[in-house]
Amino acid sequence: MSNRRTFAIISHPDAGKTTLTEKLLLQGGAIHLAGEVKARGQARRARSDWMKIEQQRGISVTSSVMTFERTSPDGSVVTFNLLDTPGHEDFSEDTYRTLTAVDSAIMVIDAAKGIEPQTRKLFEVCRLRSVPIITFVNKVDREGRSVFETLDEVADALALDVCPMSWPIGMGGVFQGVLDFATDTISRPEGDSREFLGKRTAAEGIPDDIAEEIELARGGYPAFDLEAYRHGDLTPVYFGSALKNFGVAELIDAIARYAPPPRPQPSDAGTISPEGKEVTGFIFKVQANMDPQHRDRIAFMRLVSGTFKRGMKLTPSALGKPVAIHSPILFFAQDREIADTAEPGDIIGIPNHGTLRVGDTLSETNKVRFTGLPNFAPEILRRVALKDPTKTKQLRKALDDLSEEGVIQVFYPELGGQWIVGVVGQLQLDVLISRLEAEYKVEAMLEAAPFETARWLKGSDAALKGFTDFNMAHLAKDRDGDPVFMARSSWDVSYQQEKNPDLVFSATKER
Ligand code: G4P
Repeated sequence: MSNRRTFAIISHPDAGKTTLTEKLLLQGGAIHLAGEVKARGQARRARSDWMKIEQQRGISVTSSVMTFERTSPDGSVVTFNLLDTPGHEDFSEDTYRTLTAVDSAIMVIDAAKGIEPQTRKLFEVCRLRSVPIITFVNKVDREGRSVFETLDEVADALALDVCPMSWPIGMGGVFQGVLDFATDTISRPEGDSREFLGKRTAAEGIPDDIAEEIELARGGYPAFDLEAYRHGDLTPVYFGSALKNFGVAELIDAIARYAPPPRPQPSDAGTISPEGKEVTGFIFKVQANMDPQHRDRIAFMRLVSGTFKRGMKLTPSALGKPVAIHSPILFFAQDREIADTAEPGDIIGIPNHGTLRVGDTLSETNKVRFTGLPNFAPEILRRVALKDPTKTKQLRKALDDLSEEGVIQVFYPELGGQWIVGVVGQLQLDVLISRLEAEYKVEAMLEAAPFETARWLKGSDAALKGFTDFNMAHLAKDRDGDPVFMARSSWDVSYQQEKNPDLVFSATKER
């Protein structure tokens, strides 16, 4: 178990996540030819025709899991579980939730572009969950900005200490290679035939101006501190090129060496240690209708404690009675296999017919509930209008189902009949419309809603009543019947919060 690393890659689209994923899998021998990840993506798209948008937009909406092994330089074998997050401008709650199932993350930035807003947002989610970050500055083979500038931007944007672990030589000019501080060796672009300094290591002597720059770098930034990294106060920074395949081996070695092994997870019964004997886990994602003929779903479970064995009975918290898990699936780069056993940190797919929901805990004794799988306050709100008003019942069922699955959130206003859906990314709305049509035969339109965001309300009954009596037009219930304040603007939220200090206006809600 200490040899397992469950991690995700976060980045802005085009920073090179797909290329890096491919090279990481190549490093692990999980795939043999670069290009196979993309090929696999196309094969999958061909199969999942229910999700027409995937094809229309040429993207993969749903994230998946890739497991691979690699022998580290010290001879130990490490199992990596890489959780893929959608690489698209529009991100969604799916991305957020994937981050609840990892122990660490790699943040990829484009050397020329730096940190873009979406990456920062994902970073904030990592911080919220104390997921430590290793930074990979990609595309250093190209014209880039100064290395110092890049490092300072990361430090400023994320309010973190940065610690360069390697140094690109000649970035922005004639690029020469990356000096790895730990081994003092220089790695060069694959197939680069330009006349190079010819040095394999710094010790062989690199030109004075570069040596000076490196001295400055090594002295000017905090030294690497494992505790600070794992605590989320410092990010080690590696430089390289996914496309030209250098700096990648150093990156994966860093994950093996520094990234935390499976962590204890918070629950209502205290933290559950991965060393615990009882098999426990939680569902962080449900992928429905992988086969349009059958309403089958795959629930993705992160194993928290115990050794899972195929066929064992686990109780899903929402169901309350045990079910036997006969065909758990392990996901490899190119294959899926039935899992005979799985260890903490592993992700298994559990086929089911809607019994498993995002946020469910599975356990042998049904005595724990994992916490910290929140709903996030929606950033886009829309009214749902039916083309055929006789389909109200179907619509309600669909909205309840899809919010249970975590595709959207639904709010039922206290006044007026029009239901409101909330999402954190535009793409979720497209998924909603497409699935309403394909699976529920409901044609719906989305209209502007008079609200911009929502906050879950918490407080004493008296405080709640005092508030709701005056603000009925701003109140709704979520799918669980919990009260929600629908706000016209974030200013509205601050204003009401100030006026009602007895109430909590929460931007997240435990599922
Ligand atoms: P994403 O998943 O984060 O969206 O990025 P992706 O890997 O698809 O990479 C985006 C573009 O950047 C691709 O070019 C890719 O080849 C290029 N790229 C990735 N890593 C590097 C690198 O280290 N150096 C350089 N110079 N380029 C890199 P594209 O032209 O958009 O796609 P393609 O035609 O190469 O498939």
